[in-house]
Order: sequence, then structure tokens, then C-alpha cells
Amino acid sequence: MAGRKDLDGLLERAEGLARERLSARRYGHTLRVAQTAERLARRHGLDPQRARLAGLLHDAAREMPPERLLGLAREWGIPVGPFERENPKLLHGPVAAELARRRLDLSDEEVLRAIREHTTGSPGMGPLSLALYVADKIEPARDYPSVERLRELARADLREAAEEALRRAVEHNERRGRPTHPASLEWLREAERSAQRRVQ
Ligand SMILES: [Fe+2]
Ligand SMILES: [Fe+2]
Repeated sequence: MAGRKDLDGLLERAEGLARERLSARRYGHTLRVAQTAERLARRHGLDPQRARLAGLLHDAAREMPPERLLGLAREWGIPVGPFERENPKLLHGPVAAELARRRLDLSDEEVLRAIREHTTGSPGMGPLSLALYVADKIEPARDYPSVERLRELARADLREAAEEALRRAVEHNERRGRPTHPASLEWLREAERSAQRRVQ
């Protein structure tokens, strides 16, 4: 893990990278996610600065055109399954992580993993990944019917909030007749299994 001083420098460079690559609208979202992730980390005993770093970088590749995402994924050895080929947008997490590794020399695997996983989620997510996933869904400008419930859950339990957000995302896809990424479905099955164990 980087020392504190390195981390300050990294945070500054991460903010610069996001600013240079994103529209004002999405840069605003990025800052709000970073701030929300930081706040959630503080509340749940995680490292606020590393959560902020993940937030600043999570959407750094969000405005790349699909061909560029696919091209970089190929060049950087990022796995591209049939689902990503159909929906290259989903590669913006893994591509942003790799971009941060290459451009900022970021080597904090937990932060990289959180960035990589924020689009679909994944089974076995660690606390930092959960914090980013939730922050992305509840940042202050998010406004949809169930967001207050998620904000409440996030104050109490990050994993429960993340799993609830996941369930809603899957339902949302189902209602629209859209498929859900296999990693999200696997995570959902994992969440359901552990919920059952808690009941028994
Ligand atoms: Fe994203
Ligand atoms: Fe985002």
C-alpha cells in the first residue's frame, strides 16, 4: 500500500485524470461519488482516502467510445466475454482500473479491484468494492424512488445496501427485458445463499 504522502499525490493526479477525461456533468458525478465513498468508508471503519481514490477513478473510462474500450481491452489483456462484446460500455470499469495502473502507477489492488468491479459487481466483493458500488448508486444527485431506502441501509450495513442495489438493478433489467451480466447474477446467487443461511 502507498504511504500517506504518496496517497495525497495520487489523489491529486486521480482528480486531474478524471477532469481531463470527463464532461463537466460526469466529472461532477465523479466528485460526488468520491465524497460519498469517503463518507461511507469513515462510517464503516475503512480507509477514507483509498475509498476517495476509487471514487475519483471509477468512471475515468466512461466516455470512451465502444470501439476504444474494446481496443484497449484487447491491447491490455482485459478479458472480454460475449456479454462485454455486446455491451462494451461495461468495460469502462476494468479499463479505468488498467488506465489508473498505467497512467498513475496505482498498485493498490483493493482500489483497482473496486474500480474494476463497480459496473457489474462480483461475488466475494471486499469492503472497499462494496463502498464504491453503493456510493455510485446513492451519491447526492441520484434521485429515484428507492434511493432513500438505500441511503438508510448504507448507513447501517454496506453489504446489505450493495445487495439491495444489486437486486434492484437485476429487476430493472428484467422489467426492460434486458439481460444481466453473469458476474452480477453470480453475486446475486451468493447473496441469496448467505441470506438463507442467516434465516436458518
Ligand atoms: Fe461507472
Ligand atoms: Fe459512476
